Amino acid sequence: MTKEKVLVIGASGQIGVELTLALRKIYGNANVVASDLREENELLKGSGPYVSLDVMNKEMLHVQVIRQNITQIYLLAAILSATGEKNPNLAWHLNMQGLLNVLDIAREEKLHKVYWPSSIAVFGPTSPKKNCPQRTIIEPSTVYGISKYAGEFWCNYFFGRYGVDVRSIRYPGLISYKSAPGGGTTDYAVEIFHDALEDGKYSCFLQEDTYLPMMYMPDAIRATIELMEAPSDRLTVRTSYNVAGMSFSPKEIAAEITQHIPGFTIDYKPDYRQNIANSWPESIDDSVAGADWGWKPEYDLARMTKDMLTNLR
Ligand code: NAD
Ligand code: SER
Repeated sequence: MTKEKVLVIGASGQIGVELTLALRKIYGNANVVASDLREENELLKGSGPYVSLDVMNKEMLHVQVIRQNITQIYLLAAILSATGEKNPNLAWHLNMQGLLNVLDIAREEKLHKVYWPSSIAVFGPTSPKKNCPQRTIIEPSTVYGISKYAGEFWCNYFFGRYGVDVRSIRYPGLISYKSAPGGGTTDYAVEIFHDALEDGKYSCFLQEDTYLPMMYMPDAIRATIELMEAPSDRLTVRTSYNVAGMSFSPKEIAAEITQHIPGFTIDYKPDYRQNIANSWPESIDDSVAGADWGWKPEYDLARMTKDMLTNLR
């Protein structure tokens, strides 16, 4: 059996840090190369190889893939929803060209597997709000959502036309304590924990009744690894899989935090991110992921809140 050698692009980001550490446990530290445009995250230092890499520089990326004998790429470099609305051209350029560079190299070098995340942001105001299905009306209204939806079809195309084994998940908003989120609309659900512990209060940029699909990072990492380890012939979706974790509003997460931090208060000052949140579903139907590769989340709001506070303390 060929030894796997993995390249993680965007390894210093919110997902990248934890995914890199999880992949190093599976494949061995030396066999998972972390890479990013910015400096190596503190939590990665000393745990395995790191290279400075710009996914937009296709030649340099290709050189690294050949030089390091890479067999799998996890592409996490992207501009998220809120930052994307501030700079739509940059978001489109990075999110599309970065993916096309990776897919082209995967085809040329016959890589075994590629992972690329999509998002619940592919859904738009015309998609069903509750239990949004795998296949439904998809008319995204953010540049981030448009880039993710186009990306899903590039993955599907490279699988169908060239046989590139690229797999994808539409992550909900991710909540984590190890590394900070990078410019999304769901970031409030991480910030709230830090402010609750530091100041006992939080000023939320979304309205109190804004329900969004969310997931705790351990579930997201497990989903990613379970999808990547699933037999290829079990996968019926080659665009991107819906996965669900939990769904809550700012008011509900604040109430849950108050159970642990009595006296915690929240106020609401909605900004431009409210429109983005309003365009997304409140909850997700992930029954296709369940049927194809056995996906089942473990963390609900109560369990996630307890674990976040324990670890942040
Ligand atoms: P992040 O912003 O925290 O991390 C992205 C990383 O990519 C950063 O460390 C950044 O320095 C790096 N990067 C940016 N441009 C680069 C370039 N040109 N070359 C190399 N690296 C570059 O993002 P994240 O939250 O970890 O998200 C990772 C992926 O998951 C993205 O595709 C994102 O759209 C998707 N996703 C995230 C969430 C979430 O809630 N975090 C939800 C849905 C989907
Ligand atoms: N958490 C992400 C965002 O808010 C969803 O893809 O942009």
